[in-house]
Amino acid sequence: MKNLWRLRDFVVGMTGLFDKGAVTEVDVLRATGRLLSALVAHDDWLPEEFAKPHAAHHQEYLLHCDPLERFSVVSVVLGPSQKMPVHDHLTWCLSGVLRGMEHFEEYRHEGEGRPMLKTGDHIGPQGEIEAVSPSIGDIHTISNAMPYRTTVSIHVFGANIGVMKRHKFVLPTGEKQDYVSGYCNTVLPNFWNASPGHQPSRGSGMAGPLLI
Ligand SMILES: [Fe+2]
Repeated sequence: MKNLWRLRDFVVGMTGLFDKGAVTEVDVLRATGRLLSALVAHDDWLPEEFAKPHAAHHQEYLLHCDPLERFSVVSVVLGPSQKMPVHDHLTWCLSGVLRGMEHFEEYRHEGEGRPMLKTGDHIGPQGEIEAVSPSIGDIHTISNAMPYRTTVSIHVFGANIGVMKRHKFVLPTGEKQDYVSGYCNTVLPNFWNASPGHQPSRGSGMAGPLLI
């Protein structure tokens, strides 16, 4: 994939957003959504080593973590018919479908010993942007909506999500289990090589004007 500069521009845009100072969650979700929409509009930048499925379960590849852990960027890869556990994030998250088609299901925790209540259910095609957070609804799962193709979506979180202590849920019983997702990769994509003479570049490296 030759257009890795798209990820560089996204990271530069996100960093600029937070460097503006304190902003509300609504502002962050709106601005991040616009940057993420631009990023997933083109499936020509994600190196294939960050899009490989696992035979048994989904994969979460860290693409970038802000040095101050104000946000992290992850590619989530689901093999054919695979499904993530029902989980929360305890921070805001936006996801954008880069490749394939995903099935989103949202839930509400009704208490230990009580079945989880489904509050949302829909299909997201390529380019679809989803938002979750503790304030707008945090508990959900994502599955691959296609039986024979891998899906890839790009997720942006309001923290270093792989190290956060959060939860998985058992649907029939509402059991809440401690969960730390980690990351499945040990190296990160080097988008700093995306410069004139190496790869196509927009030149300035900026992702356009800040959106809030
Ligand atoms: Fe999630």
